[in-house]
Amino acid sequence: MRFRNKVALITAAGSGIGAATARGFARDGGAVMVADLSGRRAQAVAEEIRQSGGEARWQKMDAADPEAVQATVAATLEAFGRLDVLVNNAGYAVPGPLHELSLEAWQRTLAVTLTSVFLGLKYVVPLMRRQGGGAIVNTASVSGLRGDYGMAAYNAAKAGVINLTRAAALENAAYGIRVNCVCPGGIDTRAPELLAPGRAEAFRQAMVAIHPLGRMGKAEEVAEAILFLASDAAAFVTGASLVVDGGLLAHTGLPDFTTFVPAAAPLGGR
Ligand SMILES: NC(=O)c1ccc[n+]([C@@H]2O[C@H](COP(=O)([O-])OP(=O)(O)OC[C@H]3O[C@@H](n4cnc5c(N)ncnc54)[C@H](O)[C@@H]3O)[C@@H](O)[C@H]2O)c1
Repeated sequence: MRFRNKVALITAAGSGIGAATARGFARDGGAVMVADLSGRRAQAVAEEIRQSGGEARWQKMDAADPEAVQATVAATLEAFGRLDVLVNNAGYAVPGPLHELSLEAWQRTLAVTLTSVFLGLKYVVPLMRRQGGGAIVNTASVSGLRGDYGMAAYNAAKAGVINLTRAAALENAAYGIRVNCVCPGGIDTRAPELLAPGRAEAFRQAMVAIHPLGRMGKAEEVAEAILFLASDAAAFVTGASLVVDGGLLAHTGLPDFTTFVPAAAPLGGR
């Protein structure tokens, strides 16, 4: 019950990583505000949590809309009286070559993926400072640490999330507020259907093939990393980017040398 008497606001919590984080936070004793662009999905997750004995409310909220974020923070305070944990989890991507990306798609990607994190910080940090501390976890991505083919705006936005995390961690360390991010690899959520409509299975197979652990990650596995960073177990962790990627970024991308070199040949030998 590591979150007993704690309150979390989790964005994009109607599905995938956000929903798994909301369930985990409630399972461990905390009260959750489930916020999502889809009111239907947010409501379903909050009701499921309540049915299993947890405490949850829901709010329809566009994480890129300053007024909606402010209203959700206010609703959280009204419902639970405090806010200890913020998970900025919303993200958005339009695949395609950079030169063919519309300005509108670029701006929406930046707004939902990066500006949303700024808005969460902007409206929650002052109240966490008044409360004497808190923990903020942002969902970045391996795509913020490396580039992808056909994901330029998302790459730029997620890299921004990682460095915004560091800046926010520095500014707020003296106030007892820790700010960290997670960098997931390929996670099997609604993402394959959204990114590869009609070809989701082929997309999943391509994902499985590049992850050294031989599978895609589960939303719950990223949620565990977020919950760790949000918990007192991470009391000395701030400004960090925790990679949860099944070994993806451990690889340079070079071919398997053992395929080309006789097993007995030592490196630098012969
Ligand atoms: N799935 C992956 O492989 C993967 C990998 C790395 C990072 N991520 C990041 O993890 C986060 C969650 O992704 P997921 O795969 O769990 O997604 P998902 O598609 O399962 O769920 C996303 C949820 O976000 C909501 N949403 C969309 N736009 C929103 C907005 N503007 N405001 C509020 N809610 C909004 C949707 O309604 C949906 O319920 C995103 O930031 C994503 O970029 C995902």
